[in-house]
Amino acid sequence: MAILVTGSAGFIGSNFVLDWLAGSDEPVINLDKLTYAGNLENLASLKDNPNHIFVHGDIGDVKLVSELLEKYQPRAVVNFAAESHVDRSIHGPEDFIQTNILGTFHLLEAVRAYWQKLPSPVHGGRIEGITKADFRFLHVSTDEVYGSLTKDEPAFTETHRYEPNSPYSASKASSDHLVRAWHHTYGLPVLTTNCSNNYGPYHFPEKLIPLLIVNALAGKSLPVYGDGQQIRDWLYVKDHCSAIRCVLEKGKLGEVYNVGGWNEKANLDIVHIVCDLLDELRPMGVVSGEVVSGESEVVSGESKIVSGESEVVSGESEVVSGESKIVSGKSEVVSGQTRHFPLSTDHFPLSTDHSPLSTDHSPLSTDHSPLSTYRSLITFVTDRPGHDRRYAIDARKIERELGWKPAETFETGIRKTVQWYLDNQDWVNNVLSGNYRQWVEKQYGK
Ligand SMILES: NC(=O)c1ccc[n+]([C@@H]2O[C@H](COP(=O)([O-])OP(=O)(O)OC[C@H]3O[C@@H](n4cnc5c(N)ncnc54)[C@H](O)[C@@H]3O)[C@@H](O)[C@H]2O)c1
Repeated sequence: MAILVTGSAGFIGSNFVLDWLAGSDEPVINLDKLTYAGNLENLASLKDNPNHIFVHGDIGDVKLVSELLEKYQPRAVVNFAAESHVDRSIHGPEDFIQTNILGTFHLLEAVRAYWQKLPSPVHGGRIEGITKADFRFLHVSTDEVYGSLTKDEPAFTETHRYEPNSPYSASKASSDHLVRAWHHTYGLPVLTTNCSNNYGPYHFPEKLIPLLIVNALAGKSLPVYGDGQQIRDWLYVKDHCSAIRCVLEKGKLGEVYNVGGWNEKANLDIVHIVCDLLDELRPMGVVSGEVVSGESEVVSGESKIVSGESEVVSGESEVVSGESKIVSGKSEVVSGQTRHFPLSTDHFPLSTDHSPLSTDHSPLSTDHSPLSTYRSLITFVTDRPGHDRRYAIDARKIERELGWKPAETFETGIRKTVQWYLDNQDWVNNVLSGNYRQWVEKQYGK
């Protein structure tokens, strides 16, 4: 037997495949288009594993998907493939419609044709290989399809109405509806999971947590949308992967399962937690374990600032508006010889109008001394249009019916995550420099 997993060179998919093959000999056919978000370097440890079969391709390519299904006869398809970044969907929704809606439609059609040809189980008899009854199509979706909650509303259950607010969530909502319809109309044995914000290893540094870590270590500003009080539930990615394995094994056909971490946090709290962990694990002024010393070169003079929009893509955050002057001063210095302190970034935002200094959330109003903590890099930027205020997942159904619950608390998961980024700077640098694209060609000749 085998499983076909789509989008598994991305963040969650690659964690899923790594965990799957760590615990099983069942082969994984990995179909991924390798968009900017696909990074085969995530799967480098599987290079010599014969149970990992990578195929470069599009879920919307019915011919290719049909050939793969015929050739490998998988007992399940797990669909992670998607365009997944809300900001990108605002700037260019077309790819989201193409992959998340049309791609899912074509995938469902190829899978339906394959599934309809599978033999039915015979009473009392045995059939070699996979039967119609064994097969599963598991669709991975998001809590964003449910819309936004106010502070006091109850968390999303599986029966909450769909109210997507961004092109991303609308496209995911459409795909969920298609999956549901293929079950009700054609009997396709589907399962759907809707999960909250994932975090953990191999997260592309355009998303909040890795962006914070990467920017903080580079001494760049830490952009926070609006007032930073948007609330999300956070799920450690390995917990998400275990939930998917559980639903695949025990889920009831046609059912939807919400997956959450029971960790509702405001974005600004996340920023503070990450800064505080970095202060502990890699204090400012300590570069890769070395202590920075002497007079550090701390930002002074004029900073070139972009006005209006904030672009938070690929680790580069260009923030702020208007003319900005940079605060100059002394950084906390720890002894010995000279090294350059990371704060000397062009975009250091301390004295802009949107500076945290002018709000209640100012890092300077805390106990932390202004230039010795990563909190001093926090910059508030113009809010994203249509930014949902709160998502919260009620994950009691999957616990009650399937016995799954997350293993990590936010405190344990975020510590592992920050440590992973500190230990895997080469991975981060390869993503930021774009070298991971060449890596694909080198390793796989594609
Ligand atoms: N990351 C989260 O916090 C989160 C939360 C809820 C739900 N989800 C869902 O989980 C899934 C995976 O999310 P992620 O964060 O790993 O995304 P990601 O952007 O990191 O990875 C997506 C992967 O899909 C591939 N892909 C894109 N279009 C494709 C196509 N047409 N054919 C084949 N492959 C294609 C990309 O190359 C990439 O490897 C998505 O469906 C997303 O909507 C993610």
